[in-house]
Amino acid sequence: MGTIEVETTAANLRSRLDKERAAGRLVGLVPTMGYLHGGHASLIDAAVAGNDLTVVSVFVNPLQFTPDEDLADYPRDMETDLKVCTRHGADLVFTPAVREMYPESGLPVVEVGDLAFCFEGASRPTHFPGVVSAVSRLFQIIGTCRAYFGEKDFQQLAVVRQMVADYSIPVGVVGCPTVRAHDGLALSSRNAYLTSAEREEASVLHRALQVGAEIVVGGETDPEVVTALMAEVIDAATTGELDYVAVVDPDTFETPSRITGTGVRLLVACQFGQARLIDNMGAVPA
Ligand code: PAF
Repeated sequence: MGTIEVETTAANLRSRLDKERAAGRLVGLVPTMGYLHGGHASLIDAAVAGNDLTVVSVFVNPLQFTPDEDLADYPRDMETDLKVCTRHGADLVFTPAVREMYPESGLPVVEVGDLAFCFEGASRPTHFPGVVSAVSRLFQIIGTCRAYFGEKDFQQLAVVRQMVADYSIPVGVVGCPTVRAHDGLALSSRNAYLTSAEREEASVLHRALQVGAEIVVGGETDPEVVTALMAEVIDAATTGELDYVAVVDPDTFETPSRITGTGVRLLVACQFGQARLIDNMGAVPA
């Protein structure tokens, strides 16, 4: 296994990628906060398959953590991250310092719409403005590319898509399926905070989504019936604190009065001890 190229400065990375594009090569970007797991690996695989050169960014973005969250404790393991990137065929890892991402001279503020303030954004109002600060800056540094995001963070994917459309950013946003553990738990760096008892219980989120999706497929049209059943499944199996369960339109994140043939997205967020876990699933009536 060779040594992967690591770049830390925006200017060097940009001129390198401009040369690649001038030579007709397609650039893929996988934005991450590191501590890479199988979900990230699947994004790297997709980027490698669809482009000539794949960049993985590893940047723990301080702006998307709220003051009471885990910035200092956020898990980090650069050595393993570089191995994962190499093993999955990425070409380059971008590891900028905070000042490289957010220069003292300041950056234009990127506005986010209503999508950023419901559900995850209601619980953490500074989260998505922080995410778009990092992602827009990465897009600015990398330039024209395809960028790969996991559907696990379904609302993040929608917010990024909205930003790209609003600001006509020349980036193709590609959503990739959630990768799950054997018992259905969605892979997430935050799973590292779960105790073994919480880890056992946490798979209930996936079960609840499956139960909700099954009744939608089976013809249930009332979102309240679906959310009540999902909440019941979760409450019965865990002492974890349920934040929300919801049935939403996948584009607007509004709850429809009735579920129709176009389908819905089921969302769930639950606090297990130190770990706030989110998950989601699509459901279309048969
Ligand atoms: O999903 C993440 O890991 C982060 O929110 C992202 C997209 C890398 C922005 O910091």
